[in-house]
Amino acid sequence: MAYEYLITEITEQRVGLIRLNRPKALNALSPELMAELGEALMAFDADPNVGCLVLTGNERAFAAGADIKAMAQATTVDMLNNDLIARWETINHLQKPIVAAVSGFCLGGGCELAMACDIIVASESAVFGQPEINLGIIPGFGGTQRLTRTVGKYLAMEMVLTDRRLTAQEALALGLVNHVYPVETYLDEALKLAARIAAQAPLAVRLAKEAVRKALELSLSEGLTFERRLFQMLFASADQKEGMAAFIEKRKPQWQGR
Ligand code: CAA
Repeated sequence: MAYEYLITEITEQRVGLIRLNRPKALNALSPELMAELGEALMAFDADPNVGCLVLTGNERAFAAGADIKAMAQATTVDMLNNDLIARWETINHLQKPIVAAVSGFCLGGGCELAMACDIIVASESAVFGQPEINLGIIPGFGGTQRLTRTVGKYLAMEMVLTDRRLTAQEALALGLVNHVYPVETYLDEALKLAARIAAQAPLAVRLAKEAVRKALELSLSEGLTFERRLFQMLFASADQKEGMAAFIEKRKPQWQGR
C-alpha cells in the first residue's frame, strides 16, 4: 500500500520496515501521519510474511514530537472529541515485536513513540527528551509513565520539568536503549536484530512479548502466574514439538507458526 507520510517495505528476512517520512518537519507526528502509521502497523501485524517490525525515521530525526502546528489552536473540547492521541494506541496493541531504530531528534511524542516499541536501537547522534514543558503542556503518550519506569523518578522528573535531554550514550547507560551504533550502521543493525526475532517460532515470540510487557503492569505473583499459563499453552503448539525434536536430533528447527 502507498502512503504519503511513510515508506514501508518487507525485507527478505521477514522484517516489516516503516520509515516516517516528513523530513522537512523533522517527522513531526501529524494526525495524518499517525493515521497512516496506525494502518501500516496493523497491516504488518496481520501479515504472515512479517515476523518483526522496525520503526525508523531518518538520520536527522526519528521524530521531533507531535505536530505542534496541528494542535496549536486546539481547545480542550477538540482534544477530547478528536482524541488524537487515542489513535496512537495501535502501537500498544501489536502482537509482533517492534524495534525502534532511532537517530537524531527523538523528542516529545517521538520519544514516547520509541518507548512504546519493544527494543530501541540508537545511532550515536540520537537525542532523547520530553520538551513539552517549553510549550506549556506535559507529555501525553507515556512520557511521564514509561520514562519514569525506565530511568527512575528523579531523572524522569528533571527531564519532564526542565527539558533535560539524554545523549545516546546516556540513554544506553540508563537502559533506555539496547544498543548504540554509528549513524552509518544503526538501521542495518536494527534490521539484523529484527531478523533474528523474525526467524524464531512466531507463537513463542508473540507470547514472550506479551509476558514481558505484562511485567510492567502486574504484581510479581500475578505476572508469574500469567507467564506460567503462557508457557504451558505453548505445549499445544506444533512448534514446541518441532523445536525440542530439532534440539534432540541436532538440526535446525522448521517453524510452522502453529
Ligand atoms: N511540530 C511541528 N513542526 C515541527 C516540530 C513539531 N514538533 N518540530 C520541528 N518542526 C518543524 C519546524 O517548525 C521547522 O519547520 P519550518 O521550516 O516550516 O519552520 C522544521 O521542522 C525544522 O525545525 P527547526 O527549524 O526548528 O530545526 P532546528 O534544527 O533548529 O531545531 C528541534 C530542531 C530542536 C527539534 C526543534 O525543531 C524543536 O524544538 N522542535 C519541537 C520539539 C518539541 O517541542 N516536541 C514536543 C511536541 S508536543 C508533543 O509531542 C506532545 C506529546 O507528548 C504527544
